[in-house]
Amino acid sequence: MLIHSATQLLTLKGGPQRGRDLGSLGIIEDGAVLIRGEKIAAIGRSDELRASLPGEPSLDATGCVVMPGFVDPHTHLIWGGDRSAEFAMKMSGMHYLDILASGGGIISTVRATRTASIETLISQARPRLLRMFAHGTTTAEAKTGYGLQTATELRLLKALLVLDHESPMDISITFLGAHAIAPEYKDDPQGYTDLVSCTMLPIVRQWWEVHAPRLPLPFVDVFCEDKAFNLEQSRQILGAAGELGFPLKIHADEFDNIGGTSLAVELGAVSADHLVKTSGADIAALARSDTVAVSLPCTPFGLAEHEYTPAEKIIDAGGILALATDCNPGTAWNESMQFAIALACRYMKLTPAQAVAASTINAAHAIRRADRIGSIEEGKQADLLILSVPDYRHLGYRFGTNLVKQVVKHGRVYSVDVGYYRTA
Ligand code: NIG
Ligand code: FE
Repeated sequence: MLIHSATQLLTLKGGPQRGRDLGSLGIIEDGAVLIRGEKIAAIGRSDELRASLPGEPSLDATGCVVMPGFVDPHTHLIWGGDRSAEFAMKMSGMHYLDILASGGGIISTVRATRTASIETLISQARPRLLRMFAHGTTTAEAKTGYGLQTATELRLLKALLVLDHESPMDISITFLGAHAIAPEYKDDPQGYTDLVSCTMLPIVRQWWEVHAPRLPLPFVDVFCEDKAFNLEQSRQILGAAGELGFPLKIHADEFDNIGGTSLAVELGAVSADHLVKTSGADIAALARSDTVAVSLPCTPFGLAEHEYTPAEKIIDAGGILALATDCNPGTAWNESMQFAIALACRYMKLTPAQAVAASTINAAHAIRRADRIGSIEEGKQADLLILSVPDYRHLGYRFGTNLVKQVVKHGRVYSVDVGYYRTA
């Protein structure tokens, strides 16, 4: 199939886009993409590709932008219940970490998740995944972390494997047993840290070999924050995970700067995520490394806070910046990378071009899949979007509505746009 006549074809060729190189979109005007099966077979100008492929089934993208599918490299896709009541409390002035300390927050979602069956968890996550897909995300990372006990954490891993298998979307799975101190260990955080590092991680490793032998090991992530896991506890868990061969991620500097970002660099983590309170020294360490800085602007927005990732400093220092939604029930229930882009442009001062690169090729690097996704290049997966706009700068500029017209995933076309009113 030939997708042709795209007003702008954004290839995002090459990458990762480090520092000031961020925002190279590799635009081909009047562009075309040839898809063979699930893969991209050729890229070029429409006139040339059409002339060389007479009779090829075609999809006309006149007036549209064609770009790689969004990669969302940080989500907490799977949980039970919701926290609408807490949102109301937060808006009346209570702080997120105080709600957590009083047994609410993540812990209230943990209670709802532990009592939910795997079928319930899957059926509640499915519409979130569909909304992500409809908004142009073709691959998403998804974390466990609302079980905080071995059996429930394994149930969440299983549910994520089922969702990955049944949906057109690809899911990159992360084990986040260290999302919060489990309620049973409220007064013994070190006890829970030992449980995660000495018991859960080896069990997850064995479980994975049985249930997903063909997939690479999941990531292991830790919420490194004073009221969750302190620096030493984070080091213990990630160190143990690294020794078992798991690739690493970290939640760092969301509320306090306690050294999580430098720890991630020291341990060779694939990404360090959140990065709001990140210090100059941490930014310098990040910029010297291949650890991707994943910024989650929906989170400060969701918490009605005013401080965002210091993106300009990370870019100036030479870091690799990516964007994600952080979709979760507590701080940011939002499935749309387009909305993350709109926030990043306004509050992190990214140009639309930088935000697009951070949401595609760099985001693919943040989950180690840049060999397959994140750009439109020959041999890569045919995961791309047809936007109902003629200029990519509508991304960022517009917000709260969906600019995706069609999603192409593994070479198959899915229509999203309503297009027109139809009467019965
Ligand atoms: O990334 N920071 C920790 N985890 C989530 C929030 C989880 C929750 O509140 O349920 C986050 O913001
Ligand atoms: Fe998160």
